[in-house]
Amino acid sequence: MQWRLCVAAAAVLLALHALRRLEEDVIPKPWALESLEQSGTAPEHAPEAPVPSQDLTRVPSHAELEKAKWRPPDFGQVPVLDDAIWQASLDGCAQNSTLHAFLQRLLQNQTITIQVYGGSMTYGMGCCAPYSCDRWVDCSWGAQLQSALEQLRPGRVRLEHRARRGCNLPCALPEVVLAQRGSFRAPDLIILDFGQNGWGGSPENLEEFIRVCHLFMPQTLLLIIWNKDMTNLDPSKGDIKNLQSCRALSGHYGIPLLNFQAAMEEYTRQGGNWSQLWPRVLPEEHHPPWRTHAYFTDMLAYWFNRQLGSSESSLQLAPVLRQPDDLNVDQAWIPPLYNVKLEKIQVCLFPLTSHVAREPNGSPTRSPEGRWQLYEDRRDKPGWITMEPSSDKLRFEVNFSRKARVVIQYLRSYANIGTAEVEIEGSWLWQHDGKNLQGGKGRSFRAAAEWGHRISVTQTVMLIGASLPNASWETGAVSFRLADGPKFKVISVISC
Ligand SMILES: *[C@@H]1O[C@H](CO)[C@@H](O)[C@H](O)[C@H]1NC(C)=O
Ligand SMILES: *[C@@H]1O[C@H](CO)[C@@H](O)[C@H](O)[C@H]1NC(C)=O
Ligand SMILES: *[C@@H]1O[C@H](CO)[C@@H](O)[C@H](O)[C@H]1NC(C)=O
Ligand SMILES: *[C@@H]1O[C@H](CO)[C@@H](O)[C@H](O)[C@H]1NC(C)=O
Ligand SMILES: *[C@@H]1O[C@H](CO)[C@@H](O)[C@H](O)[C@H]1NC(C)=O
Repeated sequence: MQWRLCVAAAAVLLALHALRRLEEDVIPKPWALESLEQSGTAPEHAPEAPVPSQDLTRVPSHAELEKAKWRPPDFGQVPVLDDAIWQASLDGCAQNSTLHAFLQRLLQNQTITIQVYGGSMTYGMGCCAPYSCDRWVDCSWGAQLQSALEQLRPGRVRLEHRARRGCNLPCALPEVVLAQRGSFRAPDLIILDFGQNGWGGSPENLEEFIRVCHLFMPQTLLLIIWNKDMTNLDPSKGDIKNLQSCRALSGHYGIPLLNFQAAMEEYTRQGGNWSQLWPRVLPEEHHPPWRTHAYFTDMLAYWFNRQLGSSESSLQLAPVLRQPDDLNVDQAWIPPLYNVKLEKIQVCLFPLTSHVAREPNGSPTRSPEGRWQLYEDRRDKPGWITMEPSSDKLRFEVNFSRKARVVIQYLRSYANIGTAEVEIEGSWLWQHDGKNLQGGKGRSFRAAAEWGHRISVTQTVMLIGASLPNASWETGAVSFRLADGPKFKVISVISC
């Protein structure tokens, strides 16, 4: 009897495996956001599989890592820490069957996808110092985690690194929505690391993020990494409040929480000096060097290894991508802890019109005079681009609902980029949060794409319809004109 079950199970597994391979061959998501321009995407082909000498069911520590995207020449001097240190970091980390299933999928040679959201520290800013590297993101803990997991199964870990400099949790919310709306697959694991750039000042921001993730990816494992803001030496009131709300939400939704701060405290308790784990290069400078990123990865590896070592019965669970039309699918889900209503968040969860450079179905490919053209100025980074100021307008037709919103994405960079005039036709008057656009409530705004940061990112801005027209929905248009400077690149225009 038992062997029959086994054969049946093996057949199911094989079929599932074949299906997944098929899914993986599907053309990648249309929504590879421009922010990926500076991010580490997984290699497209499995690298030559070396025959690793060690245990293939154990995630290696930084010292056991055979290959890394980047590491400093003196990494051998970064000691491996005692398990007790990492044990202390397991704040809200019970056994988790979703994590177990995710790791089992990897061990069964399936490709797993990890998305990382965070700010500049997460992105790896400064982590090569005092050495130099081409891309900071290559030495970030996200990239190191990918290398560590790939040591188990080469070429089987896809990393979608969506951390951005200057981005806090609310800033990452539209990104997570757009990424999943335009995708063909859900990630297995989403890791949030906003200790340095902030969780948004209110616990509701995190709860919105959690509920949005569940709306589109009900089987995806979310993981919170908590650490205090390292700008100051002592935890601030804000840090304490953040930890409380992260813990409350972790408990409420069963979301694992890894606490790096607790590991630093345990290290100090054992007679060490926490600054070994997070050396501050300059006072009030919170970006740590490579060593801290290595320790973040070791912390994750420790927790993964505890799951791998557990005898949890093997649950077959793969991530699922849902494309719901409304919020009803989650009505029966865990009720919110705080007063969060997804109907009210500042994102187009269900777009009425999407003009996306990567998938321009029905969108214009040029402006009337041809000064704007849709093309890729960098490989796989399409956009509507103009290279000279003119009166020629790039115009996108859009529909608005009664709660009209427009979400625009454009390239933000430090050189060779200018300022566009953005106009919205229709009877609505519009307002925005004033952070990235200029112009008060009205129909005309200016978007200055140049900034001082030495990176190029996708800027997302949202305009909210501020005066209600009589019709329940209406059509309008969003147009762009380069007013100043050498170039402007529109990446998407979405309305709801
Ligand atoms: C996964 O791949 C490795 C190496 O290619 C192989 O030894 C192993 O048997 C495979 N495991 C499964 C479950 O297919
Ligand atoms: C594992 O984590 C998921 C959230 O990603 C949660 O829904 C689930 O309840 C957790 N399971 C356990 C056993 O803690
Ligand atoms: C920890 O190290 C820092 C710098 O390395 C030093 O300034 C500080 O005094 C040390 N703290 C303790 C308690 O030894
Ligand atoms: C606006 O909505 C109408 C009616 O549903 C539809 O026919 C039209 O294609 C939409 N236009 C755009 C630009 O989305
Ligand atoms: C819109 O409704 C208001 C009253 O609710 C009315 O005064 C106005 O004329 C209407 N405008 C249009 C364009 O129908």
